[in-house]
Amino acid sequence: MPEPTPAATPEPEPEPAIDMAPTDGGFGPGFFTRADETSDARFYAPPRLVTHIDAGAIEAVGLLYEELDLTGAVLDLMSSWVSHFRRAPAHLTVLGMNEAELEANPLAAQRVVHDLNADPRVPFGDASFDAATCCVSVDYITQPVAVFTEVARVLRPGAPFVCTFSNRCFPTKAIRGWLATDDAGHCEIVARYFRAAARYSEPTVRHCNPGARSDPLYAVWATTIG
Ligand SMILES: C[S@@+](CC[C@H](N)C(=O)[O-])C[C@H]1O[C@@H](n2cnc3c(N)ncnc32)[C@H](O)[C@@H]1O
Repeated sequence: MPEPTPAATPEPEPEPAIDMAPTDGGFGPGFFTRADETSDARFYAPPRLVTHIDAGAIEAVGLLYEELDLTGAVLDLMSSWVSHFRRAPAHLTVLGMNEAELEANPLAAQRVVHDLNADPRVPFGDASFDAATCCVSVDYITQPVAVFTEVARVLRPGAPFVCTFSNRCFPTKAIRGWLATDDAGHCEIVARYFRAAARYSEPTVRHCNPGARSDPLYAVWATTIG
């Protein structure tokens, strides 16, 4: 009797391929998946009254907001207890996951708890804001084209949406496409979100604090097409 053939050891499943092609606006399988796919409400339940970038990078955010004249009615998306404006806009609305963090935001006039990954709709009327910001958080959005399209809807024509980020994150909650690339790649990813939403001018990309001894600070922004 021949010996039975031993069962083959199953090969481990390969990681999903991530399409990093910079030109086509399409993102490949696995790009928007995360190591922690449990609800964001659970992860963000404990208030984190900390800063996620250092003082130099925070100053760079504030200087950029001042330069871009983000005044009037402003929406700070994925916000917490700090919004980094050097001078408060006339009316600041903050949207984020943690009520206590938003309550502690001294510049906010309106606070909204809303999970953009559970529901990418931005819960405001058309043309409600003069500007929108998203600081060190764009890497957590799992449906960014839907969110960027929604942000364009709630902005007035010609209004800027300004995304800033550094080189750190909560890695289990950042999308795999973000973790798979470097600072230049992150700038290109955010620029692709603006282009894919097809409601914005060609985005501007800037390294805001080159040569500084602080955390690096990158910005990508564009204005809505009227
Ligand atoms: C790294 S913190 C940045 C907070 C603030 N923007 C800042 O500059 O310090 C990430 C923020 O994104 C928000 N956030 C994460 N996932 C979110 C989601 N699914 N929907 C809405 N906000 C979210 C959290 O509430 C958290 O405050």
